[in-house]
Amino acid sequence: MHVLHVVGARPNFMKAAPVLRALGRTGTRQTLVHTGQHYDTNMSEVFFRQLEMPEPDINLEVGSGSHAQQTAQLMARFEPVVLEQAPDLVLVYGDVNSTVAAALVCSKLQFPVGHVEAGLRSRDRTMPEEINRLLTDQISQFLFTPSCDADENLRQEGIATARVHLVGNVMIDTLVRLLPQAEEQHNDGVPERYALVTLHRPSNVDDLHWLREMLLALSDLSHDLTVVFPVHPRTQQRIADLGLQALANGRLRLLAPRPYLEFLALQRRATLVITDSGGIQEETTFLGVPCLTVRENTERPVTVTMGTNLLVGRDIARMQSGVRRILAGKAKQGSAVPLWDGNAADRIADILLSPHSWFS
Ligand code: UD1
Repeated sequence: MHVLHVVGARPNFMKAAPVLRALGRTGTRQTLVHTGQHYDTNMSEVFFRQLEMPEPDINLEVGSGSHAQQTAQLMARFEPVVLEQAPDLVLVYGDVNSTVAAALVCSKLQFPVGHVEAGLRSRDRTMPEEINRLLTDQISQFLFTPSCDADENLRQEGIATARVHLVGNVMIDTLVRLLPQAEEQHNDGVPERYALVTLHRPSNVDDLHWLREMLLALSDLSHDLTVVFPVHPRTQQRIADLGLQALANGRLRLLAPRPYLEFLALQRRATLVITDSGGIQEETTFLGVPCLTVRENTERPVTVTMGTNLLVGRDIARMQSGVRRILAGKAKQGSAVPLWDGNAADRIADILLSPHSWFS
């Protein structure tokens, strides 16, 4: 069997890495295509290195653009590659533009697609990722889900249960493997107690009025607790547009995006995390670190029902009250999510190598 993996943006890398390893152990022929959606060293290359991923066989060097431009470029550049490679299966990951673009190309050419991290739904169609999830799931033959809610979402959308495989969370596979290395990281100069912050969703950072309020609230918070904020390139641009870089100081630390191991160490040791990322909601749940999510909804509801995650919406007062509760020792206590155990990628490999799954 020849499996072609498509990755493009930062959160894809920690999802693909364990699947590449698991299939590698079985001797499966694999090809790795990087679309180039993310291209900065600290958004891409450093992850390949730390996750010990092979160099991409092909880089489509798509880069940034509007959604239509980026998706169109992705499709136009991926089509000849998949035709030439003629794989038995294409694996796509998560919910970024590279995911849906590759899946759409394959579906027209009738190459089977496997979607890793299928079935997640925020029910918020203003999020580009929600559109990417819905479409990718409709046109994939193998749907690998991280949790039961995802299976239920797919069932409600009329997707045949034979195509759906509950395997657990591949991102947690990477976390489990690399946590010991992260524990050895020195967070030089970071105090014992701190809030770790990430914000990059368009709904948070493209509304400059709201972003300004958030930054001022973080600046207030930093009087009580050091704030460590690795800033995504999109957010960095917006902070510059607002002229608010000057808010940064020793207690509100605006940093460049962190490499995987350093960021995992920062999460593991944080007093609390404030974020709008999907993956970080999952990682904090696994680590048992309190998480406040600056969104009205989440496609990862198990992090709220079972984990340490609390949705505070776009509401400064709710965020502040969440912080106060955590600092008063009343953080939400989470429990372990079934199948988030470090073995999800092995389950995917087992399913793909079983002839039975191809005919169901
Ligand atoms: C993308 C994903 C989002 C994911 C996020 C993680 C989509 C629709 N969105 O959002 O789901 O959570 O990645 O980071 O696919 N830029 C750089 N260097 C880079 C990459 C981007 O400077 O290496 C800047 C560019 O100005 C670019 C902007 O960031 O225009 C946005 O990049 P893009 O890939 O379009 O979306 P993200 O916001 O990163």
